[in-house]
Amino acid sequence: MADEIPWERLFEEALRVRQRAHVPYSKFPVGAAVLYADGSIVAGCNVENATYGLTVCAERNAFVAGVAQGREKPVAVAVVVDTPEPCPPCGMCRQVMAEFAGPDLPVRSRTLNGQEARYPLSELLPHAFTRSFL
Ligand code: THU
Repeated sequence: MADEIPWERLFEEALRVRQRAHVPYSKFPVGAAVLYADGSIVAGCNVENATYGLTVCAERNAFVAGVAQGREKPVAVAVVVDTPEPCPPCGMCRQVMAEFAGPDLPVRSRTLNGQEARYPLSELLPHAFTRSFL
């Protein structure tokens, strides 16, 4: 499956949506793109707020938009940041990913310089809390 994932398309979408990030406070735009089993891609950028705590990350915005668009079964996530080293998703976003995807979900993060990190979700969030515990 991993070989069939159109990573370049996903990263293009993440890069494109990153330009829409609303980041007047951090000036740290992030773009994320989620590929679904039906081949569709849903992208999200981070959106900050003057009450800083309301900030929503790019990854979560992509997943939430996917729900609103009726997308099911995320199969890959690409993230783009402008950092010296690739930046992994924050803890809240990892938990949201675990709500919708299994531990094998491949997550890749790239810098603008093209450096890339690759992680299965299980590495980012071992022992995830899932509905199986409820
Ligand atoms: N941010 C993301 O969008 N994704 C992450 O995984 C880490 C952090 C955003 C939140 C905030 O707008 C800015 O980056 C700085 O933390």
